[in-house]
Amino acid sequence: MGKPKVVLGVSGGIAAYKACELLRRLTESGHDVRVVPTDSALHFVGAATWSALSGNPVSTEVWESVHEVPHVRIGQAADLVVVAPATADMLAKAAHGLADDLLTNTLLTARCPVVFAPAMHTEMWEHPATQENVATLRRRGALVIDPAVGRLTGADTGKGRLPDPAEIFEVCRRVLARGTAGPDLAGRHVVVSAGGTREPLDPVRFLGNRSSGKQGYALARTAAARGARVTLIEANTGLPDPAGVDVVRVGTAVQLREAVLKAAPDADVVVMAAAVADFRPETYATGKIKKKDGQDPEPIVLVRNPDILAEMAADRPRPEQLVVGFAAETDDVLANGRAKLARKGCDLLVVNEVGERKTFGSEENEAVVLGADGSETAVPYGPKEALADTVWDLVVDRLG
Ligand code: CTP
Repeated sequence: MGKPKVVLGVSGGIAAYKACELLRRLTESGHDVRVVPTDSALHFVGAATWSALSGNPVSTEVWESVHEVPHVRIGQAADLVVVAPATADMLAKAAHGLADDLLTNTLLTARCPVVFAPAMHTEMWEHPATQENVATLRRRGALVIDPAVGRLTGADTGKGRLPDPAEIFEVCRRVLARGTAGPDLAGRHVVVSAGGTREPLDPVRFLGNRSSGKQGYALARTAAARGARVTLIEANTGLPDPAGVDVVRVGTAVQLREAVLKAAPDADVVVMAAAVADFRPETYATGKIKKKDGQDPEPIVLVRNPDILAEMAADRPRPEQLVVGFAAETDDVLANGRAKLARKGCDLLVVNEVGERKTFGSEENEAVVLGADGSETAVPYGPKEALADTVWDLVVDRLG
């Protein structure tokens, strides 16, 4: 099998320079990349750079190498087209089917998955014209990644930044892996919690756990690549924000509960992948707790934290909302999993066996997904994103 063929469309925004890193990641991971910039993009990064980094010829218009019919062939041959950055003008042209240069022609002839990574000033992103164009492109099956929030050109800050190229690359990798399966979570809002809560004892100490957050992040990334609007509520992970995902940061179980309740009302699915502390210290010392010579330490008194998963399953803001939980077990894994599924009242429970090398901090995972309908889906040892995709497959089946 030859290398997957990727067309990297670049439109004219300052973020064009970041597309160089995306290009490098694509070529270094074995993709054959053809860069198709617009004329405006060449004001920011020249053709020589695109050509040298891709190892392929670069042109912007349809009047070169006409005998090869490039305006049709490039799009037809592609396995993936990714436009990064996509300007407001590019989104408008794509939504309306204009074809006045090589990139817009390529977009009309491509029958493969298409990803747009918009970057522009907040006002342009929020303008109803742009929002309607984005909605049109999404309705037609394109994946449009929401821009990140942060520093924009000049002194401005807001939504409109191109996500980290490493994260756009992750989206491309996942979309390519899915082939023509399409964004089957498009139009859905999913809420995912990830990481481990920390319950403070004093300003420098806390009770915590060993959850890395990687499984929750894999769930967020795969859902975004399948077209979902994703709210990721993360506790103490330190992981980079996935492209197109709305990230909410929390510390404690009580903060996590508040964030989940805030995000859940219009969610189609809530996935509780976070390791939530069952207990928290009854008191918080505002000053550092000091040891006293000759005295035994004070015992730590714990109180129960709210069980967010059980609460979400019992009080669903929408009756059709799905609730997915996780369980880490050391013994009688399936029997304990079944009992926990019933106790928590969720629709799906992902049961991991905890042990050497398994689960915490690793890139791999192995699990059984139990359904309230009695189903049992075994997921063999493999990347956390494979388990994430199985969870979303089961969710898609149940969403109807
Ligand atoms: N969970 C939660 N709120 C809590 C504790 C757990 O929402 N206070 C969620 C986790 O996010 C996870 C699932 O519940 O989805 C796993 O809970 P776990 O701690 O294993 O369940 P427990 O009922 O506490 O069972 P155990 O007796 O094994 O600790």
